[in-house]
Amino acid sequence: MNRTLGRTSLWLLATVATAAIAFSAGQEASSYNHGEQVFNASCMECHDLRPIQMQALDPDGWTKIVKAMIEKGAKVKVDDVPSIVEYLVANHGPLPDGAGKPVLLNKCTSCHDLKRIKQHLASPEEWAETLNAMLNEGASLSDEEFVVLLTYLARNFRP
Ligand code: HEC
Ligand code: HEC
Repeated sequence: MNRTLGRTSLWLLATVATAAIAFSAGQEASSYNHGEQVFNASCMECHDLRPIQMQALDPDGWTKIVKAMIEKGAKVKVDDVPSIVEYLVANHGPLPDGAGKPVLLNKCTSCHDLKRIKQHLASPEEWAETLNAMLNEGASLSDEEFVVLLTYLARNFRP
């Protein structure tokens, strides 16, 4: 009897825990999706994506920018600030400091987002290959930028 009860309550606990996890994951996804909607509706009214693609900021940094944009006239409700910041950090989140950072932001964010690059962990040789492939795709890098960027990527985004 005791054993059955014990099992039943364990099973109940597991069910409740699973449901809670699923619920919070759903909440997170919907906050992100909501942030994306607000972003699309309110951030391209005065300028295109470029000034946003040129930034790589943490939650504090993005919160400051969004508040500054609201002062300029962006139509973002105060309640929506956390969602939009969540979206911005996921897509334009912080990058390690280094000489290659401005090159990366300047030259590598116009065709795809930073996420694509940050998820790519590779050896120096593989990064050199990727950079050459990007030059073939149409990216432009001077010889000096190539070396600075390669050093930065190989140091910060390695397996
Ligand atoms: C009412 C017009 C307007 C809207 C809407 C707007 N911006 Fe801006 N934004 C500007 C102006 C003007 C600048 C030029 C730089 C300045 O004057 O500081 C700017 C510049 C920026 C910059 C460059 C960094 C900086 O501080 O200069 C970023 C990043 C940025 N905006 C992000 C956003 C985001 C994110 C949103 C949506 C929440 C947004 N903007 C909506 C007017 C706007
Ligand atoms: C002119 C457009 C363009 C520019 C600029 C550009 N890329 Fe790409 N990048 C692409 C395309 C297109 C792909 C997809 C290629 C594919 O899937 O085969 C890609 C894919 C990638 C990938 C993923 C490769 C993989 O195997 O998954 C990485 C990493 C990358 N780019 C890094 C960079 C870096 C670093 C820069 C800056 C030098 C850069 N890109 C600039 C067009 C560009």
